[in-house]
Amino acid sequence: MKKVIFDTDIGIDDAMALLFLHYARDVDLQAIVTGFGNASIEDTTRNALYVRDRFNIAAPVYRGAEESMSTSLFDSYPDFVHGKNGLGDIDIPHIRATHESTDGAQAIVDIATANPGDISLVAVGRLSNVANALKLCPELPQLLRELIVMGGAFGFNGHRGNVSPVAEANIAGDPEAADIVFQSGIPTTIVGLDVTAQTTMDDNFFELLKNEAGDAGQFIFDISRHYLAFHEERTGRHVCSVHDSSAVAYLLAPELFTTRDAGVRVVSTGPAMGQTIWSDPNVSYQTGTWNELPRCKICTGVDSRGLLTLYRKTLLSAVDHS
Ligand code: RIB
Ligand code: CA
Repeated sequence: MKKVIFDTDIGIDDAMALLFLHYARDVDLQAIVTGFGNASIEDTTRNALYVRDRFNIAAPVYRGAEESMSTSLFDSYPDFVHGKNGLGDIDIPHIRATHESTDGAQAIVDIATANPGDISLVAVGRLSNVANALKLCPELPQLLRELIVMGGAFGFNGHRGNVSPVAEANIAGDPEAADIVFQSGIPTTIVGLDVTAQTTMDDNFFELLKNEAGDAGQFIFDISRHYLAFHEERTGRHVCSVHDSSAVAYLLAPELFTTRDAGVRVVSTGPAMGQTIWSDPNVSYQTGTWNELPRCKICTGVDSRGLLTLYRKTLLSAVDHS
């Protein structure tokens, strides 16, 4: 069993990733930690509680960061991508349940401390909570088993940015936090646009989920309408990239991915704000601290068909839970 903390700015693709985790056989979901990003912290936390309770997910919800550490490329929430409520503007009833009183960053520290070497932290929003956790606990890199990040873009497979020519949304939303995290020495794998934009879900895929995966399939179908409309407006195709679920796929089946080791820094100001830059550990650079950076793994390739099959098969087991 993999003990997992899911750190999410829960919008549409985050919710799909959470259900992927929930229905995966060998995952013990210890906590859902929310952050601002796809919507405000109030809305993402409400969404986490809603999805948790609708699908009987046995994990506490901790409310995390409501703002970035310092700079951000954004001054508003992307309702044109995720809807005003963050879940494609489906009807969300009033939620009675409340989040835990412990702050999200503190919860990461507490759970990692109680389970040294055992926790996989899957972070699919801004890295604000992880950076705040590092501030609270500088030993966190030795406590975590691994950190899997959906974020960034390194130019592999022609993918560079989705919110600027060089920046990806999760990193651009809190670049300093990302830079701290990537330099911290936490064993980190970065699942960036290089691979997440390589895999797409189309109408046929969503229809199959709706017909085969019970209420979970219906829910995914419903929230994906808004997401697909956004993608169609942007690309002319009624298909969407598979961002956050690709990070979960890496946790469940890393063999679906090719990776390479790299030092990673993040640009925090100027027109390239949010750009992720990788340095090659086999090259001796003449300037700066490029040679001393801790190594991360960055994903450079993915077996998209295998990933989609894994997602579909996992979601099919939702029927057994209903
Ligand atoms: O760039 C894609 C990422 O930004 C995803 O995590 C999505 O949920 C948004 O937060
Ligand atoms: Ca996300």
